[in-house]
Amino acid sequence: MTSVNSDKLSSARFAQATDAFVEEFTASVDFDRRMAQQDIQGSVAHATMLASCGILTEQERDAIVAGLAQISEDIVNGEFVWSVKQEDVHMNIEARLTDMIGVAGKKLHTGRSRNDQVATDIRLYLRGEIVHIAAQATRLQVAILDLAEQHVDTIMPGFTHLQVAQPITFGHHLMAWFEMLSRDQERLRDCCKRINVMPLGAAALAGTSYPIDRDLTAHLLGFSGPSANSLDSVSDRDFAIEFAAVASLIMMHLSRFSEELVLWSSAQFDFIDMPDAFCTGSSIMPQKKNPDVPELVRGKSGRVTGHLVSLLMLMKSQPLAYNKDNQEDKEPLFDTVDTLVNCLRAYADMVPHISAKKDNMYSAAKRGFATATDLADYLVRKGMAFRDAHEVVGSAVRLGLESGRDLSELALPELQQFSVLVDADVFNHLTLEGSVAARKHVGGTAPERVKDAIQVARKRLALSFP
Ligand code: ARG
Repeated sequence: MTSVNSDKLSSARFAQATDAFVEEFTASVDFDRRMAQQDIQGSVAHATMLASCGILTEQERDAIVAGLAQISEDIVNGEFVWSVKQEDVHMNIEARLTDMIGVAGKKLHTGRSRNDQVATDIRLYLRGEIVHIAAQATRLQVAILDLAEQHVDTIMPGFTHLQVAQPITFGHHLMAWFEMLSRDQERLRDCCKRINVMPLGAAALAGTSYPIDRDLTAHLLGFSGPSANSLDSVSDRDFAIEFAAVASLIMMHLSRFSEELVLWSSAQFDFIDMPDAFCTGSSIMPQKKNPDVPELVRGKSGRVTGHLVSLLMLMKSQPLAYNKDNQEDKEPLFDTVDTLVNCLRAYADMVPHISAKKDNMYSAAKRGFATATDLADYLVRKGMAFRDAHEVVGSAVRLGLESGRDLSELALPELQQFSVLVDADVFNHLTLEGSVAARKHVGGTAPERVKDAIQVARKRLALSFP
């Protein structure tokens, strides 16, 4: 043992003070002080409930509430002195309260443990952060809708296997991103239901012998109600894992989004121009304009998924009920929140300034025989079986490849040599415009459908976030 300290928590139990390194090693105040305001909010509700149940006097409650209000202000103003000796955010605040108001401060912890306290703090914290996350996601959705509206009839190639597949509209492609985010928003709301349950009253693990009113505390804190089992209440971190899973999904979506922006802004694709303010230059190659924001977001998606895995591993072998392992939940969780908010924000700021290079998109769609399926569908409508039509079109594509022309540039007699079913009206189907316009069913890429989809999406957004 190197050296010892003397202000140990529950010091009467211990003959020796904590090793100085162990004190540092086990402390969490450097990071869990982020939940100070939630800790105070929980304590105010707890003290209010204790007084209402006759466990504290009204004077004691008033002293506690006033003291906590002062501490809250000091923290906001940066005047609160945090100490590693007090281990964590909970003990720091309680110790300061006792310094300020004396014996009433020592009564605050009646019928409570740090185990139910910390679980409550994390839930309050996450509930608040999800509001910010959802707001940034909504900003991004609005930006996507605005951009999609400008491009309901901008034609581009749609890809499968990153090979030109069929023509689509850029608006339709953007709306695919919108849909991913809509599901993300739904998942955020859903996971909130399980976050918003109150553990206070579970105390250390077995509940408390005081005549507490858990419904009142839950009501005061805006929780949907008290948790059902005291052991589960202090040990459960499912809600944090669920949140990290939702965050990982959102980041995975942003990462795919990023990958496309990086590709599209390359000289090889040249489909979009990225706003200068969101790119940087190279220190050596003067011609470069690098899509740093999408690349960084793509990179950060790995780190959020890493946090999800950390949390799963953290929990997987813990016996009931609370274990100190749980202290390790906070850093991955906080970093998940920060990373997610920042990435969504960067995207919401950037997307309105992306400009599409329509001509390049159009000619890329033309180069890739994107209307081959339309020719096959045309033959099918004239009575040919789809598999035969597939063959016929394959031959037409070969002729196009050999002669360096798109299907719409082949002459009518050239097409007719592959099938007698081909008539002059075939060219209505071989143009990119004809191809997208034909896909006018629900969920299709036709400009009129994309317009509808945008309208429906705007209504849905307004309904979920009035
Ligand atoms: N700092 C602890 C945590 O983050 C608070 C709960 C500690 N409880 C205990 N019995 N040691 O989980």
